Formats: sequence, C-alpha cells, structure tokens
Amino acid sequence: MGLGTGSTVAFVLERLAERIAQGIRVAGVPTSERTAARARELGIPLASLDDLERLDIAIDGADEVDPAGNLVKGGGAALTREKIVAAAADRLVIVVSPDKLVPHLGASFRLPIEVLPFGWRQAAARVRALGLGPELRLGPDRQPVRTDGGNLVLDASFGPVADLAALERALDAIPGVVECGLFVAMAPRVLIGELDGRVRELDFSASSTKES
Ligand code: A5P
Repeated sequence: MGLGTGSTVAFVLERLAERIAQGIRVAGVPTSERTAARARELGIPLASLDDLERLDIAIDGADEVDPAGNLVKGGGAALTREKIVAAAADRLVIVVSPDKLVPHLGASFRLPIEVLPFGWRQAAARVRALGLGPELRLGPDRQPVRTDGGNLVLDASFGPVADLAALERALDAIPGVVECGLFVAMAPRVLIGELDGRVRELDFSASSTKES
C-alpha cells in the first residue's frame, strides 16, 4: 500500500501499526523520507515501488478537495512521489479535516509545483504566463525548500479553473517542471474527520458520488 505524507496521514500510520500488531500483513511504499522514517519507527514493513507492479491501495492527505474530488497536494513538498504512488494504486483514499473541502481548487491554498533548480526562474516565468502567481517556497531559515528529490517548489496562486486537466498538462509541459500538485480525476474515496469524531465519506470512485 502507498503511505502518504503529512500530519493527517501520521494518524493513519499509527492505526496501521496497531493493525499490523494484530496480524494484518502489509508492505508500505512511502511517499517521502519523513514517512519512511516514521514507518520504520512504528515497525511498518516497507517496500520499493520498483519491486511491485501495482499497489492495492494508497492512503494520503490533501491540501484541498473540490466538489468533484479533484485535489491540490504538495503542502509537504512530497507531491511528485505522492502522484506516482497514487497513480500506481488501484484505490486512492484521501484523509482530510473538513477545512480541506473547498468550492474550487485554489480557494484556500496555493498550487505546489516541483521544479528543477536549474533555470527555475525560467519555469516560474512560464507558470506566470499561464495566469498563475508563483513564488519560490522558502523554509523557516528563509532558504529554498528542497524536495526529497533535491528540487525546488513554487507555490502558485490561482483562481477557479474551467479545465483542470488542461492546466495540469500545460504545467507539466513547461521545461524544468517535474510535477504539479493538481490531482485531477483520480477518483478518490475521501474520508473527512469531523470535529465531533465522526467520519464522513465522499466516494468519487463510484460512478455516482455517494455521501454517507
Ligand atoms: C504532502 O506533500 C501533501 O500532499 C500532504 O498530503 C498534504 O499537504 C496534506 O498534509 P496535512 O495532512 O499535513 O494537512
């Protein structure tokens, strides 16, 4: 199974470790070094995607979920590995708090875009030419944040987009862009942890969206 990245998935890792202690057998493919380290601490067996053709399931967080189940991801700078793992999984489950549900992507979070360090200003200019507002992500030390792949992240403001798939294609076609944080039409099951402890589900994997 794919193991996502972030503060919400951190709870999933703990529950998973409990289930493993009870006897279920899984191997996890981590989407970041941070998740790999935490999984090792918890005793979750890890596997490499290179040794597997498909994953049964991937569980990950998200920064935004729109009413059609499209996502923005990459707040933790793990978007590229997250997208590779999500694409390899037969089922994608997204775990979020209610504030992640937005009327349209870009409403509350900027779009992370992973770029190669070489010529990143050129890539940023092309992102800007598409109508987005990219800024280089800096860490608390005011130095550029590096992904696990050693790349940089642009965080780009954007408004409502009529064709998200076209925007994803346009971004991915920019020389130097490694991946963008748009996860379009990946048919996730979205589990929303409500403040009162209930879990609400939005299932975009079915032909009709069910809310329970
Ligand atoms: C990591 O790169 C992200 O895609 C996370 O999955 C996303 O930022 C959600 O993180 P939190 O669960 O910490 O909000």
